[in-house]
Amino acid sequence: MISKAMQDAINEQINKELYSSYLYLSMAAYFESKNLSGFAHWMRIQEGEEREHAMKFYDFLLDRGGQVSLKVIDAPPATWKSDIELFREVAAHEAKVTGLINALYELALKEKDYPSQVLLQWYISEQVEEEKNAAEIVASLEMIERHETAVLQLDHQLSKRGKD
Ligand code: FEO
Repeated sequence: MISKAMQDAINEQINKELYSSYLYLSMAAYFESKNLSGFAHWMRIQEGEEREHAMKFYDFLLDRGGQVSLKVIDAPPATWKSDIELFREVAAHEAKVTGLINALYELALKEKDYPSQVLLQWYISEQVEEEKNAAEIVASLEMIERHETAVLQLDHQLSKRGKD
C-alpha cells in the first residue's frame, strides 16, 4: 500500500500533467487559428502524451491500493506574443515539470518507496526527451528569425542519412 505522502504528491502531479495537456490543447487551438496546421498537429500529439502521463500515475495509484483525487485544473493562456515566445514557454514549462518529477523521486527515496522509484525513472527519462524536443524547436525558430533557413534545410537533409 502506498503512503499517504506519496499518494498526495502523485495526485498533485496528475493535476500538473492534466494542466500540461490543457496548455498544449490551448496552444493547438492558437496554431489552428493562425492556419499553422503542422504546429497544431504537433501540439495535439503533445497534448495526448500529457494525458497519457496523467493516466500512468492514475493507474499506478489504483494498482497500489491508493486513492485518486482529481483537483481543479487551472485555465491555460489562450494567446501568445509570437510563435517563438510560445515555444520558449513550452521549454520553460517542461523544465518546471522536470523539477516536479525530480522532487517526487526524492520523496520516493525518502519514503523508501521502491515501486514509485521505478515508475518515476520512466518519467525522468521522458523529461530528457521533452526538454530536448522543446529546445530543438526554439533553436530552429531562432534560426528562422536570423534568416538562416538554408542551414535548416541542409540540417533536415543531413538528418535523413541512413534512413532511405
Ligand atoms: Fe508530462 Fe511534458 O511532461
